Amino acid sequence: MASRPTPISPEVVSRRTQELGLKDIGSSSIREIKKIVDLIEKDSGQKFVRMEMGIPGLPALQAGVDAQIQALKDGIASIYPDIQGIPELKTEISRFVKSFLDLDVKAENCVPTVGSMMGGMAAFMTINRMWSDREGTLFIDPGFPVQKQQCKLLGHGYMSFDVYNHRGAKLREKLESYLKTGKVSSILYSNPNNPSWICFTDEELQIIGELANRYNVVVIEDLAYFAMDFRKDYSKPGQAPFQPTVGKYTDNYVLLISSSKAFNYAGERIGMMVVSDKVWQMRSPDLLRYFSSDQLGHALVFGAIYAISSGTSHSAQYALAAILKAVNDGQINFVEIAKEYGEKAKIMKRLFTENGFRIVYDKDLDEPIADGFYFTFAYPGMSGSQLLSELVHYGISAITLGITGSERHEGLRACTSLVQREQFPVLEERLKRFREDHPIA
Ligand SMILES: Cc1ncc(COP(=O)(O)O)c(C=O)c1O
Repeated sequence: MASRPTPISPEVVSRRTQELGLKDIGSSSIREIKKIVDLIEKDSGQKFVRMEMGIPGLPALQAGVDAQIQALKDGIASIYPDIQGIPELKTEISRFVKSFLDLDVKAENCVPTVGSMMGGMAAFMTINRMWSDREGTLFIDPGFPVQKQQCKLLGHGYMSFDVYNHRGAKLREKLESYLKTGKVSSILYSNPNNPSWICFTDEELQIIGELANRYNVVVIEDLAYFAMDFRKDYSKPGQAPFQPTVGKYTDNYVLLISSSKAFNYAGERIGMMVVSDKVWQMRSPDLLRYFSSDQLGHALVFGAIYAISSGTSHSAQYALAAILKAVNDGQINFVEIAKEYGEKAKIMKRLFTENGFRIVYDKDLDEPIADGFYFTFAYPGMSGSQLLSELVHYGISAITLGITGSERHEGLRACTSLVQREQFPVLEERLKRFREDHPIA
C-alpha cells in the first residue's frame, strides 16, 4: 500500500463503491466499472487512463454517417423497417461474407441485428431451444461476460473452459469431453478472442467444425474483431488470405459480425447475423414450444427478432449498407483504419512490462500474442481483483480476467481503444508511481 498520497484519494473510491452497492471494484462488471470510474473522475477532477470498456475510440466511417443522415432526411424515421432487414443491406452483407470470408451465404440468411449483442441473444433463443434434452451453450473461454448473462436471462444452462492450455490438436479432446455429454446445443467463441487476443488457427477451426458436424451442434462464431489479427492482411476483398472461419469446416454455423469495432459504429447499435443455409433450414419440433414455426430461420426472424425489437433501426441499416458497399467495392480499407489499435497496444504493452507488469496471455501457440484491441496483464504478488482495486487509486481502469471465464485470476484485461496517444506519458508516469509504491520482492 502506498505511503504517500495516491493520485486518486482512497476515500473517494470507497465512498463511491459503497454508494453503488458494489462489493469491491475487483469483482464488478464492465458497465459497473465504467459507472464508478465516471463518478470518481467527476469527484476527483482527474482523468483516468480508461481501459475497461471496448468503446471504439476512432471516428465512425463517414460513408455510414452520410448515408444515415440522408436516409433520415428522406423520411425513413417514421417507417418500420422489415424485421429481416432492408434488401440492399442483406445483399451487401452476403457480398461482405463472400469477399472477406470466402463463404457463400444467401442474402435472405443475412439479418441485421441491434448489435452483435442482439445477434447472440436471438441465436441462443432459437438454437438452444431446438433440442429440449440439451442444456445450452459451451463457451470456449475466456470470453465476453455478458453473453453468459444472456444465457442466464433465458434460463439456459452453459458450460465453459479456458482454452489457453488446450490449443492446437489438444483442443479436440477437451471439446469432445463436453460434446460427449450430449447436453451441448451451441458452441460460442470470439475470434480474435476478447479478452486474450488468441487467434484460432485453421487447424483449430477445423477441429471445432468437425466436432460440430459429428455431434450436430451449431457453432456461433463471434467475429466482433473482424480481420484484426494484423499479422495477416485480411483487408483485400475477394483475395486470400481471408479471415479464418469455422464456416470452411462445417455448415453448422451462425456468424455474428459486429459493426462496432470494425467500422466504429458502436453507437448506432447495428450488427450482422449470418446464418448458414443448413442451419436456416433446420427443423425441430421442439421449437414449437416457443415459436409458430419449427424451422430455425423462420423462428429466428418472425419469432425471436420480432419479439425482441421488431428489427433494427431503419436509418442505421442504410448506414451499414453504404459502409459495406464501399468496403466490398474496395473503396475503404477498414482494416488499415483499425490498425491504430494494434499500434497502440504495442506501445502500451511496453509501458506495462517496463514497469514490472507481465503479459498474462502472452503466447498464441508458439508465437508471441499479437498486438490488437485488447491485452492482458498482471503484477507480481497480486490477484486481479487486488490489482484493479489498487490501480484505480492511480487513475487507471481495466477489468479482471476472473469475470471473463479465464482461469488466470491474477490478470486484468486492458482495452487499447479509448486510450489516446497523448495519454501515454501520463500512463507511464502512473505505472512508475505504482511500481515505486509496490516494490517487487
Ligand atoms: C466478443 C464480443 N462480442 C460481441 C460484442 C458486442 O458487439 P456489438 O457492439 O455489435 O453488440 C463485443 C463488444 O465488445 C465483443 O467484445
